[in-house]
Amino acid sequence: MTDHGLRAADYGTVSQSARLAAVQAPVIPIVGRWIAETPGTISLGQGIVSYGPPPQVMQAVATFGSTLAEHRYGPVEGSAELVGLIEEKLARENGITVRPASRLFVTAGGNQAFVNAVLAVTDPGDEVILPTPFYFNHEMAVVIAGAVPVGVPTTREYQLDVEATAAAITPRTRAIVTVSPNNPTGAVYPEQALRRVNQLCRDRGVFHIHDEAYEYFAYAPARHFSPGSIADAAAHTLSLYSLSKGYGMASWRVGYMVVPAGLWEAVNKIQDTLLICPPAASQAAAGAALRVGRAYPDGHTAQLDRMRHDIYETLSASDVPCEVPAVAGAFYYLIRVDSQLDSMTLAERLIREHKVATIPGSAFADSAPCSVRISYGALEPTAVEEGIGRLVRGLRAVGV
Ligand SMILES: Cc1ncc(COP(=O)(O)O)c(C=O)c1O
Repeated sequence: MTDHGLRAADYGTVSQSARLAAVQAPVIPIVGRWIAETPGTISLGQGIVSYGPPPQVMQAVATFGSTLAEHRYGPVEGSAELVGLIEEKLARENGITVRPASRLFVTAGGNQAFVNAVLAVTDPGDEVILPTPFYFNHEMAVVIAGAVPVGVPTTREYQLDVEATAAAITPRTRAIVTVSPNNPTGAVYPEQALRRVNQLCRDRGVFHIHDEAYEYFAYAPARHFSPGSIADAAAHTLSLYSLSKGYGMASWRVGYMVVPAGLWEAVNKIQDTLLICPPAASQAAAGAALRVGRAYPDGHTAQLDRMRHDIYETLSASDVPCEVPAVAGAFYYLIRVDSQLDSMTLAERLIREHKVATIPGSAFADSAPCSVRISYGALEPTAVEEGIGRLVRGLRAVGV
């Protein structure tokens, strides 16, 4: 019985929307359950960094809330102070001039920025091109919006196939999504490839949505490039950013997006409905992080780069039954495993039998029949080394 004296049956049959039923279940909680059931597991699963924000962030938070205004709704796009700091950062680091051709929105992380983007540019049934393997939340957002994700495979080295991308464009295509440095592959797309995709978008009248959540994690000689900096890109380019990775602020939920001025009205409606305004305390924290600047994330990349090298050496050995594309970014490897198992079964067995967690490649629509993503960002080097050792033993145990 309910509060109103009705039985569940009195409500008739209730079910979730068919659209949502088609959305893949988030994989991280499934892997999380396997880990919880297997004490002592080392997690090379979730894509987070091992460090927290700079101390200046906590100092800013300690003094937050002394005025009444800080407890009230603020501007939809974010506080004038934070918007100004981000505009300066974009000009300095990314070569992007926000106004007048573009506009900036502070969002609850890069994920919300992507949802805003998809809702702003698609109608139900429209197509969004996602190079595969893709970041699963991107595909989920496209399906939630009622649009159709169109996967275009990347090359064996996980680089963009621009010809195949062009061939996938139809009259229903509204956007091409690129992510560089990439999750889940770790690939960094060269400037030339991103320029070609951006030009393709301009020529064919579709938007280029570019996710730069890992902008600080491109290891030399690879270089990070922002297509939003290309002359005349502003009218068709959306650039998405996050403080979660570089500044170790995943829980604070701060990201931002640069959108064409012509999309301002649409994004403003979406943001006003979803968020009203970005959380003020998180904006204060983000402002403090941006004042510290990129020296902070840059101070952590040498250690990640060493781990990247070490893992590559270890997994490339001829007696480890997997293929490891040499990639130069983020803190991921997506390895193809020579095994009869499917990706999900392999990931579960690696946890239950070898106490090391990875994410199954199938969650990213990887076409390889058996692959797993390794994240080396979240742990100290000794724990990563131990985890990779367990992984190697596990791969040898299941390899063909
Ligand atoms: C490519 C990519 N974009 C966005 C995000 C989400 O970032 P945020 O925490 O800012 O929502 C992630 C997180 O893993 C990611 O890999």
